[in-house]
Amino acid sequence: MKKKTDRKQLVAFNDPNSPVSEQFKTIRAGIDFSSIDSTFKTILITSPEAGSGKSTISANLAIVYAQQGKKTLLIDADLRKPTIHKTFSKNLYTGLSAVLTDEISLEESYQPTEVENLFVLTSGAIPPNPNEMLSSKKMSSVLEELQQQFDLIIIDTSPITIVSDALVLAPQSDGVILVTRFGSSLKERTKQAAEQIRMTRAPIIGAVLNGVTEKKSNYYYYAYK
Ligand SMILES: Nc1ncnc2c1ncn2[C@@H]1O[C@H](COP(=O)(O)OP(=O)(O)OP(=O)(O)O)[C@@H](O)[C@H]1O
Ligand SMILES: [Mg+2]
Repeated sequence: MKKKTDRKQLVAFNDPNSPVSEQFKTIRAGIDFSSIDSTFKTILITSPEAGSGKSTISANLAIVYAQQGKKTLLIDADLRKPTIHKTFSKNLYTGLSAVLTDEISLEESYQPTEVENLFVLTSGAIPPNPNEMLSSKKMSSVLEELQQQFDLIIIDTSPITIVSDALVLAPQSDGVILVTRFGSSLKERTKQAAEQIRMTRAPIIGAVLNGVTEKKSNYYYYAYK
């Protein structure tokens, strides 16, 4: 039978023993290793520019954490260009923006997936004011509530040198992972992005250089500090 969630992006689910899935487990191990003295419960994923692979990495990282038995929530906080509803074939509208505007309750918002232990909170309808929404008090209280309910939260966001949505959320996360794309992320822009994150005082817990080699088997490279 064909799997419902069969998008090629979800390699960690569809082909858990493949070399690319191993790369996601390596990223997970890197995060766990750097969190020896403090537990990272909320991890924010962002990048210097669009199209670096944030959403793909967020989704697969969420899958490998769920596979480890952690009750995991993947939040699509890219309210400008949401993709998680498509990747997991879920309803877009019963998502974050609907919770933030009190259209639905938090309990009605996140949706189970085919992956055991993994839930997704889609973006909801694209609002006119994503930045205000994400920096609202309501957003903080929603996150606090979710932190009680889940072992791990992964937040996919917009690229930071274009809009500051990820920066307003960074202080509410335990750490940020910066995803850059081999060959297209400019050094200057990456430095600027790292500097902007540093100013939020959220620790950068890792950097993923996506697409290091053209070889199918080796997409991701993780460096932690
Ligand atoms: N290592 C890779 N090799 C080949 N294709 C990739 C790789 N990583 C991501 N992609 C593809 O590149 C495209 C962009 O990836 P993705 O949507 O994850 O990026 P993004 O950073 O979330 O983009 P945006 O800034 O638009 O939200 C997708 O079609 C994805 O399947
Ligand atoms: Mg994306």
